[in-house]
Amino acid sequence: MVVVICAATLISCSDNAADEASGSDSDSGSGSSSTDSTTSPSDTSTTGDGDGDGDGDGDGDGDGDGIPERIDCGTPSYAGLRRAPYLQSVAPSSTRVAWASETGGVATLHVAESKDGPWMEFAATPRVFEVDYTGEEVDYTAYDATADGLQPGTQYCYEIHEDGDPVATGLWFETAWTDDRAVRIVALGDSGNASAEQLAVRDRMLERDFDVFLHLGDMAYGDGTFPEFKERVFDVYTELLHKTPTWPTMGNHEYKTDNGQPYLDLYYMPEVTLDPAHAERYYSFDYGEVHFISLETNDLPLITAVALDQTSDITMLDWLREDLAQNDKPWTVAFFHHPPYTSSERDPNFLVRDGLVPILEEWGVDIVLAGHDHHYERTVPLEGNGPSTKEEGGIYYFVVGNGGAGLRPADGDWWTAEVNDEQHGYLSLRIEGCTAYGEVVTLDGEILDSFELPDC
Ligand SMILES: [Fe+2]
Repeated sequence: MVVVICAATLISCSDNAADEASGSDSDSGSGSSSTDSTTSPSDTSTTGDGDGDGDGDGDGDGDGDGIPERIDCGTPSYAGLRRAPYLQSVAPSSTRVAWASETGGVATLHVAESKDGPWMEFAATPRVFEVDYTGEEVDYTAYDATADGLQPGTQYCYEIHEDGDPVATGLWFETAWTDDRAVRIVALGDSGNASAEQLAVRDRMLERDFDVFLHLGDMAYGDGTFPEFKERVFDVYTELLHKTPTWPTMGNHEYKTDNGQPYLDLYYMPEVTLDPAHAERYYSFDYGEVHFISLETNDLPLITAVALDQTSDITMLDWLREDLAQNDKPWTVAFFHHPPYTSSERDPNFLVRDGLVPILEEWGVDIVLAGHDHHYERTVPLEGNGPSTKEEGGIYYFVVGNGGAGLRPADGDWWTAEVNDEQHGYLSLRIEGCTAYGEVVTLDGEILDSFELPDC
């Protein structure tokens, strides 16, 4: 007999859901590809790691890469849902799952460490979205459910049931870890125009496994409406979003509709802002040895108070200082939409450069990711608006605005280490120990840029 200890928010526990029927498989092609081909070298340690496989990496699967073998949860299936499941706010002990249904029943999230159970069951919170509000063609119900009481760095199978019947099955997620295991990041921005280039870049992203998806804004051209989010985010990245948690930052195009309200309705981010009215516009989270910070560079009042007159107010920058002061991770990655350093035809965002960057420098942020300009660019380490070194505290800045929208000219500037305005693609970063191993992969699968960033 299996005994299941249920967390406080569970509504019941069961161990009999493993063999429940699933719907038709709409996920063909997602497969279980594990072709992690980032540039990181394998762990060559020969010291004992306690997992008994002799490779020294502690993951127990004997391949020496430090990445646990993928859990087998069956074949992903969610064809009947309006919006397929997507992972939100994944933390060491909890994971939030969101989805939408046109039938609107009583829904539950089921989670287990094996597809054979035992299953824990968590209640979902429904919210009805009517056509008058969304501009979509039908009313539907959006759900989110939080599975808590979980173990860090642990893979779980999950299912979604509606009125007792499974409507999504064969899915898995992994909680964030707190040890020094590598963190694999995929990042891109300016993706959301439903172009053939966006889809081709998406296909390349699906060829690798990632732990964290940083979506750098302008993911739903032209105005960030609900129909645009459906067509240009959720119907495009479906197979990525149900297994890789997406962490967004708002672009200027999402901001166009009611200051980003559809974005705020669709994403479920940590609510950590000093002013509750700013909830989800900026936030932070940890994964392994990396501290991530998502900032909002559209809403000018969030940054102008400090940038223009040095007054202290309830602003994003006050929160940022507090957040960075508490940060004890060796790596810090900040991401937001508007780039402080970019060599496109448009000017860099000087408000961001003058108001935000000094704080990032003061507190030792390592990497800044942005979009907005439609090309790829990587800088040398920068500090004090000049070239620096990593040892002196310089920050590496990226523009990854080549995710799908039409490319624009960029020819490099004094800060530029690498620039390309001719190829769509995405950025892959694997942060492991003292090094961030990076590649930019084009829609043809070619490597546009390959680099190693030291931080020790
Ligand atoms: Fe933009």
